Amino acid sequence: MTDSGAGTSETPELTGPQFDRNPSPAYAYLREHSPVHRLPLPGGAYYWLITRYEDALPALTDSRLAKSPAKGNAAWRQSGMGLPLDHRPSLGSHMINADGEKHSRLRKLVAGAFAPRRMERLRRRAQAVTDDLLDQIEPRAQADLVRDLAFPLPICMISDLLGIPESEREPLQRWVAVLDSSDQDSSVADLLDVTDEIDNFLTGVVDYKRRSPGEDLISDLLRQQRAGLLTNDELTSMAFLLLVGGHETTVALIGNATLALLMHPEQADGARVDPNMVSQVVEESLRIDSPTQNATWRFPLEPVTIGGQLIQPGDPILVSLLAANRDPAHFADPDTFNLMRSARHIAFGAGPHVCIGAALARLEGQVAVGTVFRRFSELALAVPTEQLRWWPSPIMRGLYSLPVVF
Ligand code: HEM
Repeated sequence: MTDSGAGTSETPELTGPQFDRNPSPAYAYLREHSPVHRLPLPGGAYYWLITRYEDALPALTDSRLAKSPAKGNAAWRQSGMGLPLDHRPSLGSHMINADGEKHSRLRKLVAGAFAPRRMERLRRRAQAVTDDLLDQIEPRAQADLVRDLAFPLPICMISDLLGIPESEREPLQRWVAVLDSSDQDSSVADLLDVTDEIDNFLTGVVDYKRRSPGEDLISDLLRQQRAGLLTNDELTSMAFLLLVGGHETTVALIGNATLALLMHPEQADGARVDPNMVSQVVEESLRIDSPTQNATWRFPLEPVTIGGQLIQPGDPILVSLLAANRDPAHFADPDTFNLMRSARHIAFGAGPHVCIGAALARLEGQVAVGTVFRRFSELALAVPTEQLRWWPSPIMRGLYSLPVVF
């Protein structure tokens, strides 16, 4: 542990292989001793981490906490934090960075594409893509289910939705891999290169759709743009947010939920025959291994008191969804994988910014996990669990790889 510089409480290790393997003890310590904890950022800045469910849920819905990076204090802005690429208008002018009317306007433009009635068609597509990916690995009798299924399925689904032509998708996998937490080796220079490439790529796709519109989200947004409902930067930023927000998170969910079921073989037989059980597996995995460990930055517009801690305007705040989802005050025996729970998790956030792609993520998780277990009855981990590596990310929780035999 290290001194937080905030007063009496210490900071447990929130990075490193031990934390990545099992973050629970560190979050349990914080929930008990310092539920709104001050932590350092580069350049002398600091932020507040909220870990109790009873503080997390109200913080996510509190309109006094802004999402616009412009509301962050000067030290935070200088620390270079924020979603990658926030500062580039053509990629950062999206709804996660917006408040109030601007946020509602941007969200409404794409809400229809994620409405429940659209999901059945997407479920059929997810099934076809999953079947195809599993056809390719079946003859090998072994696979890395992150590389071979969890990674390609979401990128294919979101590219379909956006209308990115199949012939143009090849570089996307490489780019999102550099942006993802899973890529340990990418440097800031790599990130900037990829940013330029994605920016050019999305501009090219938008130009192409302007010339040959189709039945897809980018064409739909172009129609809305002609009606004056969004700017060019907001259009490319929307495509970027959906591409990145819909990928890494869902890769993590599919890997984490598959691992959870492999670790609980007594429940796998039920999941093979009962779709409701598969959906419970996905929900419990979202709770216990929340793919988005922390929600995105929030900044008080006025002095606020959270969990007894006074926080000044502009101070950056992170809500730990993973810590809240393992809070024993809300979930009995929180470190146990239990399909019978009724308490609701907040893995998709809450309030105005609650995940717009939650239904899509759920269906991808259900299709992928259900199909893998139905198709490969003798599925087993190919390595001891201690050898599994988790992404070294304080923001995301997902597996590098999931080697299996069947
Ligand atoms: C398991 C998968 C996913 C998880 C765990 C997840 C998690 C989250 C969370 C926690 C938030 C709220 C962030 C905050 O309040 O700071 C969020 C927002 C968002 N998510 Fe997801 N997400 C997932 C999948 C997706 C997918 C598949 C898409 C789209 C294709 C998507 C698009 C978005 C967007 C656009 C927002 C911003 C909503 C707003 O600001 O109003 N997400 N997501």
